[in-house]
Amino acid sequence: MITKSVSETLLQRRSIRRYEYEPVSREDMEFVFDAIRNTPTSYNAQQYSVIDVTDPDLKQKLYELTNQKQIKTCSHFLAFCADFNKIACAAKAKGEHMPEIYNTADGLILGTVDAALAMMSAVTAACSLGLGTCCIGYARTAAPDEISSLLKLPQHVYLVCGLAIGIPRETPDLKPKQPRGLIIHSNTYRQGDLTSDLLAYDSAVMEYNSTRSGAKTDNDWISHMLGYYREALGYTMLEALRSRGFDPRK
Ligand SMILES: Cc1cc2nc3c(=O)[nH]c(=O)nc-3n(C[C@H](O)[C@H](O)[C@H](O)COP(=O)(O)O)c2cc1C
Repeated sequence: MITKSVSETLLQRRSIRRYEYEPVSREDMEFVFDAIRNTPTSYNAQQYSVIDVTDPDLKQKLYELTNQKQIKTCSHFLAFCADFNKIACAAKAKGEHMPEIYNTADGLILGTVDAALAMMSAVTAACSLGLGTCCIGYARTAAPDEISSLLKLPQHVYLVCGLAIGIPRETPDLKPKQPRGLIIHSNTYRQGDLTSDLLAYDSAVMEYNSTRSGAKTDNDWISHMLGYYREALGYTMLEALRSRGFDPRK
């Protein structure tokens, strides 16, 4: 168990997509699981669950559905889910009516925020141990129905995001991030034109992509992100959420 400083853990983190064959130790995974469990959650309702996928056949199937190699090659693939099944079971056990929170926008947000925060606890805990992580949103968007049935998710549970964890086999350069002035606003949302900072950031990303170690590209930031959004317009998450028992009407 290597333990990095808080500063190194947070400021040197980067997504790792190539892993050693060696599995992550049980002791390290227990630390990650405990960090997940101590995540702050709305109302302390803990409306999330995590599926720890280690079975090679299951990982292979998830890889085939998502085309994300990290799922197959990582040691542990964690599927972070928004989960109202547990509280619904608890309500039933007490003979109490379960309010249809999963049919509200805020219910969807509650579960999604809880699952996302839990994923970030896992990222931070894993990085502090020197492990590599990569969040995998394609685990949500690529094939929601097939993946939900492979993971045997009950109703009122939906997969928010996946996380691959493994022993790093690469150290990619840190990606440039937006400057503080675009991210941290003082007291109110920043007034005035953001354009020059955004264009400068676009150039910084282009420079990074064309000079970084490993595979180089001529991608910029703005057009590249818009391309992702265009692709995302084709996702069918609303139908997928409805079939999972989430039908926000207000
Ligand atoms: C919610 C979320 C979903 C992501 N999905 C994917 C994914 O499906 N595949 C992938 O390779 N990286 C994925 N990433 C990783 C991002 O591409 C990465 O965080 C971003 O490029 C910044 O790079 P960095 O993590 O090295 O700072 C995801 C990250 C987040 C937070």
